[in-house]
Amino acid sequence: METELIKIETEADEEEIRQLIAPAAKIIANGGLVAFPTETVYGLGANALDADAARKIYAAKGRPSDNPLIIHIADVDDLKKIGKNIPEAAFKLANAFWPGPLTMIVEKGDNVPYATTGGLDTVAVRFPSHPVAKALIRESGCLIAAPSANTSGRPSPTKAGHVMEDMNGRIEMILDGGNCDIGLESTIVDITENVPVILRPGYITVSDIKRVLGECEIDAAIIAADSMQKPRAPGMKYKHYAPKADLTIVDGPIDAVIDTINRLTIEQMNNGKKVGIIATEDTEDRYQADIIENIGKRSDEGTIAKNLFAILRDFDEKNVDIIYSESFDSPDIGRAIMNRLLKAAGHKVIKAE
Ligand code: TXA
Ligand code: MG
Repeated sequence: METELIKIETEADEEEIRQLIAPAAKIIANGGLVAFPTETVYGLGANALDADAARKIYAAKGRPSDNPLIIHIADVDDLKKIGKNIPEAAFKLANAFWPGPLTMIVEKGDNVPYATTGGLDTVAVRFPSHPVAKALIRESGCLIAAPSANTSGRPSPTKAGHVMEDMNGRIEMILDGGNCDIGLESTIVDITENVPVILRPGYITVSDIKRVLGECEIDAAIIAADSMQKPRAPGMKYKHYAPKADLTIVDGPIDAVIDTINRLTIEQMNNGKKVGIIATEDTEDRYQADIIENIGKRSDEGTIAKNLFAILRDFDEKNVDIIYSESFDSPDIGRAIMNRLLKAAGHKVIKAE
């Protein structure tokens, strides 16, 4: 299959976008696959209420069939079309954060096929804010099931080129809307029980949700260092975001981190390995290695989040054998950044002292 790429300039107005995405909307309505930009990462979309279309997503990604998809809507009322017994909390969260980078888990409506929910009786729903995503949902007349548009296990795509790398020849079309603003997947919150629980950290934080609902917890399995507990979002149990190279995070006071990374790098380079380092604008000049990537200013979590997946993919392109990364822990978006980085590193962390 030939994958067609359609470029949509960021300055395009609503009507221009509608015209440009019309062929993509038709593909979705006919049961095909289209990758499209959202404010978080690129999604790989299909008609959420068509079981055959949903199955095509799993095939294109090589995704395990028990890993459910998020349904994207473009009107808060559509929540009622795919969920049932929807709690008041859903509308409070929608009011505060939709359209935007928040996914809610609610009880599944009878019309949603199990092919979309990976066999679960709950369904994940998100109203994205990206104008191209909204236009595609509205113009197709469908609700769109979309996981991140990467091959299963690879870092999520934050630009159309990343989608092309993974999906060329496997899907009908890619809508190129430039770089994603946020760069990490949406926060997932389960509101099917009394206390809301975050199943995947993201740009919307626990404190953001507490501000609206009064309380909110984090699924213990996603912060456990040993990763022995079973996470409640099926997708969080899979090895993910992993670059081909062996990634290790070095944590501790920054001067000790730099010394440790430089020492380990020399050792590895002496062994003939090609080494890459994930550094920051504040520290990049203090390293020596084959490739040093500046992920952004340490104080600017938003930029670090936005650059992470692209840097991991970049190291793959450049065939490095070993990657060392500084640690980016902090209570807000840092939690989401570290969650993805820890998974990419298979939880390998060295303490520098
Ligand atoms: O930002 C995002 O959420 C992006 C864009 C495209 O919207 N999508 C995305 O989808 O990240 P995906 O499929 O890569 O990740 C969805 C996650 C998986 O970990 C999956 O297991 C979880 O959501 N999930 C989906 N439905 C669920 C459910 N009913 N209960 C628990 N977890 C669920
Ligand atoms: Mg994904």
